[in-house]
Amino acid sequence: MAKMEVKTSLLDNMIGVGDMVLLEPLNEESFIDNLKKRFDHNEIYTYIGSVVISVNPYRSLPIYSPEKVEDYRNRNFYELSPHIFALSDEAYRSLRDQDKDQCILITGESGAGKTEASKLVMSYVAAVCGKGAEVNQVKEQLLQSNPVLEAFGNAKTVRNDNSSRFGKYMDIEFDFKGDPLGGVISNYLLEKSRVVKQPRGERNFHIFYQLLSGASEDLLHKLRLERDFSRYNYLSLDSAKVNGVDDAANFRTVRNAMQIVGFMDHEAQSVLEVIAAVLKLGNIEFKPESRVNGLDESKIKDKNELKEICELTGIDQSVLERAFSFRTVEAKQEKVSTTLNVAQAYYARDALAKNLYSRLFSWLVNRINESIKAQTKVRKKVMGVLDIYGFEIFEDNSFEQFIINYCNEKLQQIFIELTLKEEQEEYIREDIEWTHIDYFNNAVICDLIENNTNGILAMLDEECLRPGTVTDDTFLEKLNQVCATHQHFESRMSKCSRFLNDTSLPHSCFRIQHYAGKVMYQVEGFVDKNNDLLYRDLSQAMWKASHSLIKALFPEGNPAKINLKRPPTAGSQFKASVATLMKNLQTKNPNYIRCIKPNDKKAAHIFNDALVCHQIRYLGLLENVRVRRAGYAFRQAYEPCLERYKMLCKQTWPHWKGPARAGVEVLFNELEFPVEEYSFGRSKIFIRNPRTLFKLEDLRKRRLEDLATLIQKIFRGWKCRTHFLLMKKSQIIIAAWYRRYSQQKKYQQIKSSAIVIQSFIRGWKARKILRELKHEKRCQEAVTTIAAFWHGTQVRREYRKFFRANAGKKIYEFTLQRIVQKYFLEMKNKMPSLSPIDKNWPARPYLFLDSTHKELKRIFHLWRCKKYRDQFTDQRKLIYEEKLEASELFKDKKALYPSSVGQPFQGAYLEISKDPKYKKLKDAIEEKIIIAEVVNKINRANGKCASRIFLLTNNNLLLADQKSGHIKSEVPLGDVTKVSMSSQNDGFFAVHLKEGSGAASKGDFLFSSDHLIEMATKLYRTTLSQTKQKLNIEISDEFLVQFRQDKVCVKFIQGNQKNGSVPTCKRKNNRLLEVAVP
Ligand SMILES: Nc1ncnc2c1ncn2[C@@H]1O[C@H](COP(=O)(O)OP(=O)(O)OP(=O)(O)O)[C@@H](O)[C@H]1O
Ligand SMILES: [Mg+2]
Repeated sequence: MAKMEVKTSLLDNMIGVGDMVLLEPLNEESFIDNLKKRFDHNEIYTYIGSVVISVNPYRSLPIYSPEKVEDYRNRNFYELSPHIFALSDEAYRSLRDQDKDQCILITGESGAGKTEASKLVMSYVAAVCGKGAEVNQVKEQLLQSNPVLEAFGNAKTVRNDNSSRFGKYMDIEFDFKGDPLGGVISNYLLEKSRVVKQPRGERNFHIFYQLLSGASEDLLHKLRLERDFSRYNYLSLDSAKVNGVDDAANFRTVRNAMQIVGFMDHEAQSVLEVIAAVLKLGNIEFKPESRVNGLDESKIKDKNELKEICELTGIDQSVLERAFSFRTVEAKQEKVSTTLNVAQAYYARDALAKNLYSRLFSWLVNRINESIKAQTKVRKKVMGVLDIYGFEIFEDNSFEQFIINYCNEKLQQIFIELTLKEEQEEYIREDIEWTHIDYFNNAVICDLIENNTNGILAMLDEECLRPGTVTDDTFLEKLNQVCATHQHFESRMSKCSRFLNDTSLPHSCFRIQHYAGKVMYQVEGFVDKNNDLLYRDLSQAMWKASHSLIKALFPEGNPAKINLKRPPTAGSQFKASVATLMKNLQTKNPNYIRCIKPNDKKAAHIFNDALVCHQIRYLGLLENVRVRRAGYAFRQAYEPCLERYKMLCKQTWPHWKGPARAGVEVLFNELEFPVEEYSFGRSKIFIRNPRTLFKLEDLRKRRLEDLATLIQKIFRGWKCRTHFLLMKKSQIIIAAWYRRYSQQKKYQQIKSSAIVIQSFIRGWKARKILRELKHEKRCQEAVTTIAAFWHGTQVRREYRKFFRANAGKKIYEFTLQRIVQKYFLEMKNKMPSLSPIDKNWPARPYLFLDSTHKELKRIFHLWRCKKYRDQFTDQRKLIYEEKLEASELFKDKKALYPSSVGQPFQGAYLEISKDPKYKKLKDAIEEKIIIAEVVNKINRANGKCASRIFLLTNNNLLLADQKSGHIKSEVPLGDVTKVSMSSQNDGFFAVHLKEGSGAASKGDFLFSSDHLIEMATKLYRTTLSQTKQKLNIEISDEFLVQFRQDKVCVKFIQGNQKNGSVPTCKRKNNRLLEVAVP
């Protein structure tokens, strides 16, 4: 999304005024009040035009975050509230886009925040400039050079816990794109006197404390050092520890930074060795010794320390020892050696320590430069950052302060020059008439110090070079002579009588009225410090060191390069370097940061009016504002001006079509400001008085309120409408979604409920079925069990009584039953035919069935006989009855019987009714004829046979003649008493008649017939049925027969063979009739 362009201005939400130029009324009081007001609201930055005033907050503020960097990136200087980033951005963009080399001049007194400001500028530039591995490394090296230089060049002073004790100017070089290529650092006059002596409450350079606190035991041992600060004379003890500073941690930071910057391990080690040597030098002490020639001589008290130094540095101990005792002066070809007294020895020692340290520091700067220098030869754009020690006023001010303050004086000079020049140039550029501005120009003070003929530095040099005894006093005297009339120089001895009564000015002092205030300098030490003398013996001793770094630090010690010319004095060196610096700065576009220290306590939230007032005065900030306002207090390009105020005039609101300048002209005419209040430049409008601007602002504010109300009104309406529409639309969507959602949810709920219920029901059903099945199964099991038990019980109960006792019987019975069953079944299949005469009968299978078998046979036989009988007709039945009767009567009694069985009883052998021959007979007999047969009637007398027809009817027995059929005899059955016959196989039988009956007159009849059995049987039966009396049948081989009156015995004799098989009857006598039977 395109970032919405919001035009803001410095004038928005101002606390006090963001730009002092707009201060109304402008005086010291209002100036301080404004600063204070802003300071109290954490607004530590305030502008004077393009100059940034920075008030040290003494606490970290959340205004340097990466977000802030982004806020200020590519924004116009006056667009946002004052900030050091705005200035950095302006400088960087001007360098990058307009190809103008920049310098950032940071001034202010010690502790005002210059070093911090310089670091902020560098970090801002690093953050906004190009990126990439190589560029990042350059940036990192540039940024990491700070901790290294701060460790070696900064120290705790009463004013600042991290006071820069050297001036630093760093050129950062960029390529055409604005990417950093590298840098060059210049250092100015390290306060080396601090190495050997520190004022009360101050410390030596940080590195000494850092080394002793942070080095490992091993490193300390290598450097022959002890951790205890109190072991070293050069380290002041009263403030060895600084609150909130962790020296050990800082030591690690420094070592790390050295590594990043590009120091080799051995280089870093050498540097620390030099530091150790310096520390140990301070412990060398001398004692006086008188020599024979009366000259004072000194001797080293304890050579141990010296020995260790020599071991560290690789210097021959005797050489160094000698260098501390003698001084060789060479003049032309002569060499004069003089002994040093104790004071001189101490002086020599301290000079060596100071030189070692300051040269080491210079070496460090060079070494860093070597690392960070740009690798290409292409044209570079340069941004210089100057962080030089601030203007200093101590109780005792010496040469160093003089030099420092001189430097500040020069900076003020250049500030004035450039500001004014810039102002002037702008007016010319804009075609505005230039009016002269009254301000204090400190050129005169600079001249007092640096003038080549009678300047203080020139005087000092002159004194130093002058042959004869030279002291600080002679120097002061000289000053008194030369500068007496100078307005800014004061001295007790000056001829000018106006100072004679000034008792505040001691004798050995002179006072300079600097732009920032009067400073009284102790003249003591000026000459020495300016001379910066190191005895040649010492530098030669150092050169002889095997320690390569130390050797390199003292090139003049090389006897081959003896230079008898005096080296330039410190003052002149400094003057020259400052001059170069100034020249350098003049070629660049200046940007000012003026740092102000709000209190002397290094404390947050305290704003000491007096202290600030003093700084404002000497920094000439009010003048600065005045210069800035000399012509016109406020200026602004036409476009932003029109943009900002166009709502004040109907013609320009809301849009002005046409050039911006014309618009602004219309606007200002409309507003009816007095014409002298403003001027139209080429590209800017110039407003003379801040009042006019504020009036404009007021009008704008009021108008804005109206506009805001209008916009608000429209916006609210629009917002409500769109909001409403949106809500409506959203409502529909939400409702739809919600409905869908709720329905879904409901559906899901129902679904899941259904599933739950379903599952419950299914479960319930299943359980029910299961229960039922289980129940059924249990029932079955129970039934089975019960049945089994019941059966068991039953069986047991039933069989208990039998089983054991009668098992055999039971089995037997069962077996028997089975056998019988089998027997019957088999019998069924083996049944013989139904013929009653069939004799076949299956064999008996088991013995025990014998009777049954027989009985069965009998029953079967009876049954089949019955069956057989059942087939019979009545007639036949009758026949068989007769047969049966026959059987009963004769079976086994009469031998003839068996042969009669097969003969059917025909009865009527003679068919009387059919044979006409017997017609008469037939007619004579009315009854039914039962037998009609021809028989032989045995003549009772001779035994001869005569044939007669034998007829039997129901009531009578008839005999008829066979030939005539005439009935010869008729006997009623009731008269037949008996029938006799033999047991033999013959057909003779006798019919006995009742005595006295009619028929019985002739006697009984004797017959022979072939059908004896039949005839006898029928006779028997008929008699029985007629008379109900059983006819007696006698079977015997001898019986009596009644012949007339005689009883004749009929005897049957066997075996008469004469007549063959026919029996013969023969009357033997009256009484006997023999019948021979075969
Ligand atoms: N912008 C700032 N935000 C927070 N603290 C600051 C800021 N500027 C300065 N300080 C604090 O003030 C102290 C002194 O600042 P700094 O060392 O920059 O002073 P200086 O002007 O360089 O002094 P000298 O001239 O002695 O070197 C810092 O150590 C820091 O604690
Ligand atoms: Mg500093």
